[in-house]
Amino acid sequence: MPRGLGQSMLATAKPSGPKNPWLAYATLYRDPLGYLTRAARKHGDVVHLKIGRKSDFLLNRPDLVRAALLDHEKNLRRCVNRPLRRLLGTGLLTCRSERHKHQRALLQPIFTRERIVALGDVMVGQTTRWAKKWRDGATVDMAEEMTELAMSITAKALFNVDLSSKSAELRDTLATLLQATRFKNLVVTSKQFERLSLPFHRRFARAEEKLDTEIDAMIAERQNGACDAPDLLSTMLRLRRQSRIGLTDEKMRDQILTFFTVGHETTATGLMWTWYLLSENLEVAKKLYSEVDHVLRDRLPSGPDCDRLQYTRMVFAESMRLYPPIWLMTRRAVRDVKISDLVIRNGSYVHLSPFVMHRDPRYFPDPERFDPERWTPEAAATRPKFSYFPFGGGPLQCIGEGFAWTEGILVISTLARKWQMRLVPGHRIELDPHITLRSRYGMPMVLERRK
Ligand code: HEM
Repeated sequence: MPRGLGQSMLATAKPSGPKNPWLAYATLYRDPLGYLTRAARKHGDVVHLKIGRKSDFLLNRPDLVRAALLDHEKNLRRCVNRPLRRLLGTGLLTCRSERHKHQRALLQPIFTRERIVALGDVMVGQTTRWAKKWRDGATVDMAEEMTELAMSITAKALFNVDLSSKSAELRDTLATLLQATRFKNLVVTSKQFERLSLPFHRRFARAEEKLDTEIDAMIAERQNGACDAPDLLSTMLRLRRQSRIGLTDEKMRDQILTFFTVGHETTATGLMWTWYLLSENLEVAKKLYSEVDHVLRDRLPSGPDCDRLQYTRMVFAESMRLYPPIWLMTRRAVRDVKISDLVIRNGSYVHLSPFVMHRDPRYFPDPERFDPERWTPEAAATRPKFSYFPFGGGPLQCIGEGFAWTEGILVISTLARKWQMRLVPGHRIELDPHITLRSRYGMPMVLERRK
């Protein structure tokens, strides 16, 4: 893809859409990834679905994605589905846009590069402890393993809390809550349905209560102690003591739950797909092991090694291209918006899908092929910005991006020093779009000790 093509196409953002929108919505509901991909290939850069006054746009071109995320962020508000909004309350992901800027500015200093690099030892320490229980030849579900590992890393790095003994229980509690965010379950969690006492709703309420109790205990325990540690929880308590933010316990709970949930679920998903792709692409795996052995020799990695583990970074980047943990971002227009020659009326929904864009052959030739060489600096420089956007962009861009890259590279290299994983032969892989892109039947893999 020649550089600048995205710009020269600015004048041609003509919407086109399916003839039968009812059928389109039904297919979208049944198979969102398949439908969005086919619709983008068929209708082009702007897919428009309309029934009555409800209008949905899928924007599928880098300059349009950029305009939605950066240039029109005041006119296009982030939409988070109802169960997630209910769960995360007024945390950074779900708070009103007026509060967002203030909260973000307060929390941003926790995520400086130096701080994240310094957290490398926590990430590596949690990973080595985790892998101690692995046995040569054992079969494990990498979806569960990566979730529990990422959970314990997030808890230790951001809140200085050790969750090792509780991680399986917490994983199940969170799984119950996040089940509601599955694309197909959204109806069951709509406002009208919520009034019914369905088993699904009772399970949701019980899980929510359990998590609240854990978090309340965490706040209470730290409240009385020193708040001078650089982690997120101490920083929030310190700011509260200095009266710089009006944080009630409930608001603290929302923030903690936001960082805990978003912080582990996304990275765990990215890591799970990475192990799957390495198991299916042995030449790539060989090259990765060779880099890890060469750079680390007989020692464990640490934060500063991330700059030297270039191929590991490329593998993680390519894995998030094919399986972006956040596969869809949605915005609602709060006034009429014009993006190039496309008019988006107040109340319309705008969808941006990294999954669809990352598999567009205009930017990624032979898109289904797992090829980390796409991420050499020279190759990456030929593509327009926002042809790849696993972390979003603009003022709402992932605040944990640096944390996620460091964690991804360090977990992969720590585990790859000693282990390789093979997908259980014949296991069926099917995508399952929740908030993150899951694997419907898990990811059973056989562990093989390397040395
Ligand atoms: C591979 C891992 C990750 C991916 C792919 C990812 C992706 C994203 C994306 C796409 C958004 C923006 C959503 C939108 O624009 O609507 C986002 C926001 C956010 N992410 Fe991440 N994320 C990852 C890891 C993390 C980590 C490790 C943390 C915490 C340490 C984190 C915390 C957040 C928060 C708090 C927001 C809301 C930011 C705001 O609105 O200011 N994420 N993430």
